[in-house]
Amino acid sequence: MPSSEQTPLIQRVPVNEIRQRYSHSTIRRFCTVALSSTLIVCIITALALYAVGSSLVIGDDPPKKEYIPHKSWPESEGISYNKLKNILLDTPDAKQVREWSKYYTAGPHLAGKNLSQAEWTRDRWQEFGIKQSEVVSYDVFINYPIDHRLALLKDGKVKFEATLEEDVLEDDPTTGMEERVPVFHGYSANGNVTAQYVYCNYGTYEDFEDLKKAKVELKDKIAVVKYGRIFRGLKIKRAEDFGMVGVVIYTDPYDDGPMTEENGYEPYPAGPARQPSSVQRGSVSYLSIAPGDPTTIGYPSKPGVPRQSTDGKIPRIPSLPLSYAEAIPILKALNGHGPKASSFSSSWQTGGLGYKGVKYNIGPSPPSLTLNLVNEQEYVTTPIWNTIGIINGSISDEVIVIGNHRDAWIAGGAGDPNSGSAALNEVIRSFGVALEKGWKPLRTIVFASWDGEEYGLIGSTEWVEEFLPWLSHATVAYINMDVGAKGKVFRTSAAPLLNKAIYEATSAVPSPNQTIKGQTVRDTWNGHISTMGSGSDFTAFQDFAGIASIDIGFDSAENDPVYHYHSNYDSFYWMDNYGDPGFEYHLAVAKIIALLTAQLCETPIVNFNATDYAIGLANYLDSVKTLASKSSLDADSQTSIFASLETSIASFKETSSAFDAKAQTLASSLASLHGKHDRRAAAELYPQARSINTAYKLLERQFLYDEGLDSRSWFKHVVFAPGLWTGYAGATFPGLVEAFEAGDKEMVMKWLDIIEMRVDGAISLLEG
Ligand SMILES: *[C@@H]1O[C@H](CO)[C@@H](O)[C@H](O)[C@H]1NC(C)=O
Ligand SMILES: *[C@@H]1O[C@H](CO)[C@@H](O)[C@H](O)[C@H]1NC(C)=O
Ligand SMILES: *[C@@H]1O[C@H](CO)[C@@H](O)[C@H](O)[C@H]1NC(C)=O
Ligand SMILES: *[C@@H]1O[C@H](CO)[C@@H](O)[C@H](O)[C@H]1NC(C)=O
Ligand SMILES: *[C@@H]1O[C@H](CO)[C@@H](O)[C@H](O)[C@H]1NC(C)=O
Ligand SMILES: [Zn+2]
Repeated sequence: MPSSEQTPLIQRVPVNEIRQRYSHSTIRRFCTVALSSTLIVCIITALALYAVGSSLVIGDDPPKKEYIPHKSWPESEGISYNKLKNILLDTPDAKQVREWSKYYTAGPHLAGKNLSQAEWTRDRWQEFGIKQSEVVSYDVFINYPIDHRLALLKDGKVKFEATLEEDVLEDDPTTGMEERVPVFHGYSANGNVTAQYVYCNYGTYEDFEDLKKAKVELKDKIAVVKYGRIFRGLKIKRAEDFGMVGVVIYTDPYDDGPMTEENGYEPYPAGPARQPSSVQRGSVSYLSIAPGDPTTIGYPSKPGVPRQSTDGKIPRIPSLPLSYAEAIPILKALNGHGPKASSFSSSWQTGGLGYKGVKYNIGPSPPSLTLNLVNEQEYVTTPIWNTIGIINGSISDEVIVIGNHRDAWIAGGAGDPNSGSAALNEVIRSFGVALEKGWKPLRTIVFASWDGEEYGLIGSTEWVEEFLPWLSHATVAYINMDVGAKGKVFRTSAAPLLNKAIYEATSAVPSPNQTIKGQTVRDTWNGHISTMGSGSDFTAFQDFAGIASIDIGFDSAENDPVYHYHSNYDSFYWMDNYGDPGFEYHLAVAKIIALLTAQLCETPIVNFNATDYAIGLANYLDSVKTLASKSSLDADSQTSIFASLETSIASFKETSSAFDAKAQTLASSLASLHGKHDRRAAAELYPQARSINTAYKLLERQFLYDEGLDSRSWFKHVVFAPGLWTGYAGATFPGLVEAFEAGDKEMVMKWLDIIEMRVDGAISLLEG
């Protein structure tokens, strides 16, 4: 429901001229016209438009004398914080989470193909007590598979034709489902090509440089590459740059680690090794250029909006994914043709099919030996459905968003993403129990079950683009979970502001591994926090909207059973027998998410640490300096050019430490009020808390540069972006790094200035 307060909405929602392309600009245009005549009509209309559009816009609290957000502040409202935490730790239930997993993996739920799952999710959330839950749709441009073929031809005759099917396994009912999803690539180009082929290792930027150096002919050939190391779409982008006409991407068991058939492990379903017919589906969009619907970059895909060309955002050459079982004859046919991978650099020494007779020759194959690759996709503009649930907090413009995607490439998806979906349901059910006991959160909580993540983070990106002004104004943090559990190792990547919060949350959750009795998840975790790259739904929050984000889940350890990523074998049966029998890791991740959320939404002072951000910036700058020392730019300018930015970062660190200390002192004063119900003292301290929280909330936003990165302007963050040529992995100071990589001094100076300006902006914010 829309805000029902008196202040005109248009004054309260911060206006961003460049990015508001849809609903807000419509309101604004109307209001400009209406202003002279009937302002009242305008305000009512604006409110009504919001009412129709969504129930997500929640207004500020009007300033009042002696104002505190709720009567028990700084303590929790309704039930104590300790009681809340106990509810969140005690409610999640293994049998229940297993049931949710079973439901989500019972049928296909490819993006835009399963409205009933979105509605079912909404209905459950409402039953749990989140009455404000609804399905929000976008019209997006995506593809569905029609037909495909991959054949090895010798003198024009078929020598081997791939089935392009994963084996049906008697033990695992998901694998034999009538309506199972064929193997294909999201956003792949249509085509029918017959050509000689070349083995291009992982298809990374460096691999193609190596091939160029060795003068291996690539033009008009088909690339055969391995999955791994970088986002799959970027392999195709690079092949396309070299004039190649098609790409086959296969899964090489080398990358499974020690759990292989070669090492004597039985393949799934008899054992933990990879099922040889498993195929990794996946998107081949150019994720590092811009995520979301490629026809509406920067604005939401609502019906009727203008559509852009997809040029430069998705491939023009066809591609297909392949199992290792079916890659073997194709790779073996290259034996003896062209140089051997083993004669190249160390990154080429990683083939796991030598024991099957593959010699990993690079090729090209002789003219008599070709591949015929056919890819037929139907492209449509079709609805996808996010489910959004809201718990109003006492403070409406301090918001925590928690999201997980629901769509999967396959009927199963027990790991990706539905271990997250099942856990999220338990998180929400737990908060529902607290609500029933009378709890009211201090800050507002928004839960999201995204659709269309797999094609290119579409559901979350369109939603962020739609609600950007409100999110920029109100959001404190975004918590993402994608694969919640597929193994036993805790893994997280986060904006540095959130480091403190995740250490605390993991310290309060018992580890399912009780080898040492009583150990927590924090005790079993090495404490490493990665920088944010891309590859999941935090991207639009962190890199486009400047909202501090975190991504968490349990990953596979080296000795865990092989996880069949984007394959039919990421099924309920696999999860129940190999991935997380007992569903203990599902429960652990649910509890971590719940405690993290509780902490961020309940502590009177937002649980951030700005000093950690400053320390992060200094480290990132050190790695840029290392890169710079290897770049083609002249050496004497090296030391001096960083001086000014270094000074800024050092002074940001000082300011941050002072600010964190002030926040901590205030937190202690607030804690000393506990049990006293001193309304007057609370009212006196609230404005100070409010101003510190506002600064913490807006700190991440200071690192946005509205014009964005040079070659990909959708990415606005000057500190974090996915690597241009890696996609998943995080790059720090991307503008600067790319300038050095391009050897462009002017661009280097430009980015040093921009970054310094943003650091100075952050200092001013903290200094008030
Ligand atoms: C939540 O807040 C919004 C805006 O203040 C209001 O319109 C809506 O009715 C509230 N919802 C509930 C369930 O109280
Ligand atoms: C949607 O998902 C449900 C639950 O997983 C499943 O039972 C149903 O078959 C799916 N519907 C379609 C149309 O695929
Ligand atoms: C692909 O092209 C070849 C040669 O033009 C043609 O014979 C074949 O029928 C085509 N295959 C498909 C599936 O269209
Ligand atoms: C379980 O915990 C023990 C003690 O911390 C540790 O040594 C071991 O590696 C853990 N095992 C797994 C599978 O996480
Ligand atoms: C903030 O982080 C810094 C650096 O990690 C640490 O020294 C300091 O104690 C932290 N402050 C708080 C209040 O946690
Ligand atoms: Zn996923």
